[in-house]
Amino acid sequence: MLGRALMLGLAGNKTVETFVRSNPFASKAASRFVAGERMEETIGPVRALNSQGISVSLDLLGESVKNGKEVSEVVETQLSLFKMIETHHLNANVSLKLSSLGMDIDSEQCYHNVALLLRAAPILDPSDPLNSPMFVRIDMEGSDSTQRTIDLFYRLKAENLNNTGLVIQSYLRRSEEDIERLIGDGVRVRLCKGAYKEPEQVAFPEKSDVDASYVKLMKRLMLRGNYPGIATHDEKIILEAKAFAKTENIPQDRFEFQMLFGIRRDLQTGLIQEGYRVRCYTPFGDHWYPYFMRRLAERPANAIFILKNLLKP
Ligand code: FDA
Repeated sequence: MLGRALMLGLAGNKTVETFVRSNPFASKAASRFVAGERMEETIGPVRALNSQGISVSLDLLGESVKNGKEVSEVVETQLSLFKMIETHHLNANVSLKLSSLGMDIDSEQCYHNVALLLRAAPILDPSDPLNSPMFVRIDMEGSDSTQRTIDLFYRLKAENLNNTGLVIQSYLRRSEEDIERLIGDGVRVRLCKGAYKEPEQVAFPEKSDVDASYVKLMKRLMLRGNYPGIATHDEKIILEAKAFAKTENIPQDRFEFQMLFGIRRDLQTGLIQEGYRVRCYTPFGDHWYPYFMRRLAERPANAIFILKNLLKP
């Protein structure tokens, strides 16, 4: 757990970021988790995943925008991303982080940016009688923004902007209550364990408690939720989800498994072969450093290997 805390602490350190980003070994290592720096570079990897039956959620990296100009650039890129998905007939939707749309700079403007994007989302399936616009997932970030994210989501919902959903992190003590509210309101939820550095008062410090909370919330979502995303690479939990679906007669098309680009590809294809739905969260962009550090924090062996190489003369 100490290694995880250290890596997550370094994820926000600008000096270390400059050092790591300028190191060719680190860039190469990051490319395992990131589909490309430019948007167009993702077309090949997305097509490859789609050809295996895996759908995608594309994520423009860039959570640390500094001013309104950078936020406007993110909005423009998101709009181009919609166009790219539509033009190239990709089986993909989009995930976005509110911090990249200015939540910490101007929350009112952030709301308008998200609303604009939800309204601009293309209709991808011409045979859909409801003409549903593409789904846009709002990622969940650190606990200082959990309530603000949920509030913004409910504001969108009140405006009938329904092509969106939230992420709930099982490490947060509050999540049980949040899940009940979201299930009651028919909100589409992605469940993950949580990737940020959090104090004990708000998050379970022990991995066993995070895992137990995950299983408890997952079962509620699978039974009563609206098309939940079971986002984990934890094989034990995935086995438990499959067994639960069987005993409760939950059809395979009522939920989807979700995993990250470059992680446990074997599990992703195995689940597809068994008839389950799988979506691969596929990040791109040149602001890959914090995302990369969070992935290293999840796997201390990866982190040690990479640190050793970074420090080589
Ligand atoms: P856990 O960390 O226990 O790992 C289980 C097993 O998975 C490991 O034993 C290993 O085999 C494999 N594994 C996991 N991480 C690995 C890595 N980096 N490298 C190699 N192998 C690895 N978080 C968040 O706070 N907000 C969000 O919005 C999201 N969104 C999101 C979307 C999707 C689709 C996924 C899959 C995950 C997220 N996350 C997230 C990240 C999530 O919170 C969590 O940090 C990671 O998924 C790792 O947790 P696992 O559930 O995989 O379990």
